[in-house]
Amino acid sequence: MDLVVKSVDKQAIAGAFGRAASRYDTVAKLQQQTGEYLMKLAQAENIGMRVLDAGCGTGFFSARWKQQGKQVIALDLASGMLSHAKGQQVADYYLQGDIEHLGLADNSVDLCFSNLAVQWCNDLPHALREFYRITRPGGLIVFSTLAQGSLNELEAAWERVDDHRHINQFLPLGTITQACQSYRHKVISRKYYQHYPQLLPLLNSLKGIGATHLHHGRQRGLMTRKRLNTLAEAYPQNNGNYPLSYQIAFGVIYCDK
Ligand SMILES: C[S@@+](CC[C@H](N)C(=O)[O-])C[C@H]1O[C@@H](n2cnc3c(N)ncnc32)[C@H](O)[C@@H]1O
Repeated sequence: MDLVVKSVDKQAIAGAFGRAASRYDTVAKLQQQTGEYLMKLAQAENIGMRVLDAGCGTGFFSARWKQQGKQVIALDLASGMLSHAKGQQVADYYLQGDIEHLGLADNSVDLCFSNLAVQWCNDLPHALREFYRITRPGGLIVFSTLAQGSLNELEAAWERVDDHRHINQFLPLGTITQACQSYRHKVISRKYYQHYPQLLPLLNSLKGIGATHLHHGRQRGLMTRKRLNTLAEAYPQNNGNYPLSYQIAFGVIYCDK
């Protein structure tokens, strides 16, 4: 199985997340659920004081770690997200930067925590190498990411509407596990479901969290009322609801160096 190296448009990602910053926490229900679970995975281990929240967004989880008495570095690609985080005083340090090229010294943190951010990277093994490099011997890396099987219902609906790709491609679970092979690790897979009474709030929730199709630039085509109705008709509904599923992979890496 090959480790897919994508070509992501990081400027577009930073712009989309930056624009979503002010309303992000109200729509980021999935992130809050996966982040809580990720925190539990980390807390089950013996962790030190210095925590990096890599791809911190608004810093929802930076703040949670700070409440636990940790010294937190909040890092994000999007300046809009980072200034929102700074405004809320969620961390001790703020760094605008790229997970794939971390501007941090080797062995400088005890815990590297990254909730739903690495799916936006070009090369997962490279991102994990960076996490490993900056985490001290005996430290811990925990990350969550979207895996293949996420947003299936929406993808199926779009396929009935046109021939364009509207959904980001996520790595298969096996590929994510393979990216962890060089380290002592465990990977846990969990499925999450969200249900929406209408299609528009479903689409807005994706937009609100910056999760629109951006791997090759901006989203394709304007969403007109007619297009929305066609998509709604094509959508696999469940008792009048619009279900949306997410396949989430949680990785725990032990830094035995
Ligand atoms: C879905 S949000 C998750 C935010 C936060 N971790 C949470 O749990 O709410 C993904 C975040 O990752 C950031 N991001 C995406 N690619 C990144 C990269 N290469 N380096 C750093 N941050 C990145 C985005 O700007 C965004 O704020």
